[in-house]
Amino acid sequence: MRGSILAYPLANLVHLAGLVLLIGCIGLLDLRLLGAVRALPVAAMIRYMVPAAGLGLVLLIASGIAMFAADATALAKHDGFRLKLLLILAGVMNAGLVHAIWLRRSAWQEPGRQMPPGLRIQAAVSLALWCWVAVEGRMIAYG
Ligand code: HEM
Repeated sequence: MRGSILAYPLANLVHLAGLVLLIGCIGLLDLRLLGAVRALPVAAMIRYMVPAAGLGLVLLIASGIAMFAADATALAKHDGFRLKLLLILAGVMNAGLVHAIWLRRSAWQEPGRQMPPGLRIQAAVSLALWCWVAVEGRMIAYG
């Protein structure tokens, strides 16, 4: 990563593309689950947004590992970076729970249904966690 002029900026670009995919897709779905944009059908959003967000996460992890390799010793000791990794773990666990608890059931996904309160809480947690991860990622550059 340090031996090439292009490698780090390219990894950074891929990281940002992954960020747009992840927060763009999962953020919009979270807002829908919280009661916004009710005109969009929730079942169709889940079908398209969840795989796209998953692709975003894969891009983020792959490019993140590449950028980490450029300055591994300092980053491994950086409190903000460690917090970011913990937040990512929490976000992935929350998404896993949403899958296990809600995505297997389909009744609440029918048009006109109220979102279950437990799912709303998990959507709010998801939105907060992924935004926090992005803020932590940006803050690392400021020390
Ligand atoms: C949900 C997942 C993630 C999100 C939302 C995220 C977000 C961000 C953001 C917004 C930046 C700042 C980019 C910029 O300033 O141009 C960043 C930088 C970075 N990220 Fe991530 N990231 C994620 C996952 C990861 C992972 C899994 C790793 C490593 C294993 C990682 C390692 C890094 C590194 C090394 C930087 C550069 C830090 C610096 O400025 O020195 N990221 N990330």
